[in-house]
Amino acid sequence: MAALIPVGVAGLGRYVPERRLTNHDLEQIVDTSDEWIVQRTGIRERRIAADGEVTSSLALEAARAALADAGMAPEELDLVICATVTGDQPFPATACRLGFDLGAARAGGFDLAAACSGFVFASQVAAGFVQSGQFRNVLVVGAEVLSRILDYRDRNTCVLFGDGAGAAIYTSLERAGRGEFLGGSIAMEGGAESILAQPGGGSRHPATADSVQQGLHFMKMGGTRVFRFAVRVFAELVQGVIDRHGREALGVIVPHQVNQRIIESAMEQIGLPMDLVFTNIDRYGNTSAASVPIALREAYEAGRLQKGKLVVMPAFGAGMAWGHLLLRW
Ligand code: UT7
Repeated sequence: MAALIPVGVAGLGRYVPERRLTNHDLEQIVDTSDEWIVQRTGIRERRIAADGEVTSSLALEAARAALADAGMAPEELDLVICATVTGDQPFPATACRLGFDLGAARAGGFDLAAACSGFVFASQVAAGFVQSGQFRNVLVVGAEVLSRILDYRDRNTCVLFGDGAGAAIYTSLERAGRGEFLGGSIAMEGGAESILAQPGGGSRHPATADSVQQGLHFMKMGGTRVFRFAVRVFAELVQGVIDRHGREALGVIVPHQVNQRIIESAMEQIGLPMDLVFTNIDRYGNTSAASVPIALREAYEAGRLQKGKLVVMPAFGAGMAWGHLLLRW
């Protein structure tokens, strides 16, 4: 077998819609309060896609920013992977529209559905293709318009989520010169459809007047169970990296932006200070597959990715599906 090609990150990008939905705005829509939301989640506002904006159009802006950061033309891309659970439509893949709009004339593409773990899983798939030599330049975008599947009468879910997109381009480490891919993990525990899901619109509950009447096209969640699960796997994933590489190697943790309290509880459990974590949940809420790449790009802009140090990205969500992505910057 040929030797694996070392992989790096050529470019990072992000895009969030203009419109801000604040906690005070939500107070006018459902029975909630700014105080409750801030105390329980750390969220102050989230972005909402404008009429006419769709997942592929958010993804397009993030992808363009990543290409500019990489100094790469769209024709150089070999593969486009779009991680999303709110694609433009059930099929065809949102990646096909994205690649077309981007001008990625040579690229193949597909979507990857792993909810909040989507970007972390798709990045490992991308790195595998580059390592094997099958593709040279792979674009991964995590993009979501969750506002279109939220029930703004359900205070258990509608306060938590927002819209956005983040992107990364993987290529050979030689070309990228930074962000060496060191690996990651992909895990699942099935049978959890009642904990966190969009139940309607698939083969189990096809869209009918009745399914719409029952609101099955909206996201449903048992928040407390997700909370406990998220704290446990976040702590396990980060502890695993420390056991393998040592505490000193750790530069920054850029986790799925799930809930400030979940992040704080997990960090306390591992005995690590909060200044090791990058968070932006106060401004965007939970943007599912977009959350890690948006945070990664912002951590980069803020100078939080330190040369030679590890960047750990734990993610977890519906499935249940969880895992992490590990880079050395
Ligand atoms: O990427 C994974 C996606 N999932 C998540 O991000 C969810 C993870 N879970 C969580 O973030 C937390 O469980 C929540 C923020 C959803 C809830 O926090 P909690 O501390 O677990 O609260 P709770 O569910 O135990 O609810 C406490 C109370 C309930 O009232 P009663 O039954 O005690 O009277 C809820 O009805 O808070 C009420 N409540 C609200 N009150 C005001 C629930 N949502 C709201 C709200 N505003 N938006």
